[in-house]
Amino acid sequence: MSEQTPVRADCGWLALRRAEDEEARDRGGSHLLARLGEHLVESGAEVVEIVDVGAGTGANAGYLRPRLPWAQEWVVVDHDADHLREAGHGDAVRVAAGVVDLPEVLRDLPPRGDLRLLTCAALLDVLSGPELERFADAVVDSGGRALLTLTVDGSVRFDPGEVLDHGVRRAFDAHQRRGGRPGPDAAREMARLLVARGLGVTVARTPWRLGPERPQLLRRWLDERVDAVLEEGSLPPDEVTAWHARRGAQADAGQLRVGVGHVDLLVLPHIPPSA
Ligand SMILES: C[S@@+](CC[C@H](N)C(=O)[O-])C[C@H]1O[C@@H](n2cnc3c(N)ncnc32)[C@H](O)[C@@H]1O
Repeated sequence: MSEQTPVRADCGWLALRRAEDEEARDRGGSHLLARLGEHLVESGAEVVEIVDVGAGTGANAGYLRPRLPWAQEWVVVDHDADHLREAGHGDAVRVAAGVVDLPEVLRDLPPRGDLRLLTCAALLDVLSGPELERFADAVVDSGGRALLTLTVDGSVRFDPGEVLDHGVRRAFDAHQRRGGRPGPDAAREMARLLVARGLGVTVARTPWRLGPERPQLLRRWLDERVDAVLEEGSLPPDEVTAWHARRGAQADAGQLRVGVGHVDLLVLPHIPPSA
């Protein structure tokens, strides 16, 4: 697959993951929101313009709106125009554009608040290196504030574990890196780009904890992982299929738990990096 192939997400998947995303952020990322809140109070801003990049069907805004106690003006950006038609975006300004065009898009957008915050959820790990650079440039141009959440970091822990889990993880990560993408290194790479641009980055871990409480999400996550591993092609397909059958049976019986690593980054001007 080439670097230019657009990465799309279907609405069923976005709906399925939403509750787990919210719990993961509440568990692991609430201190980032508290720090962002302090910063916004210190700034004296009354109205915050929030630009959600790769907004999908609006889950990130749905999470953040009630947790940020300021007047908010939302802008949603996605390269998938179908997602932008979703009712979940409410009165947000809707912009069909790719990350690669973000600096220009934001430069041309009339400001709708006292300051601008960029945000994203479940986006960075599908971007190419040049797209991450463009995103980092857009953060700088917008004043240096961003909350970049739920980036897959490649860590996966199965309970119970088995030997082939490691091979499956390596093959999945290789699939994420297709076309030269940073994939599981995206959060680290983005943090490096932002620090190099003079910004402060605070890191939080926001892993999913999949198990019998959300059987459909666990099953779909498993199935999509196997599809990617088979497409990547470095493991014998019969071994992958057998692993899939074992893991699927455990999931269906409520006997499988999986921790899936995610990283959130809070980006602010003038604070030292924490990690
Ligand atoms: C996994 S979905 C996450 C959607 C939403 N943020 C959420 O948390 O439910 C990734 C979204 O980013 C969009 N996307 C992926 N690559 C993009 C790019 N290069 N430019 C703009 N949007 C992109 C996809 O269309 C999709 O809506």
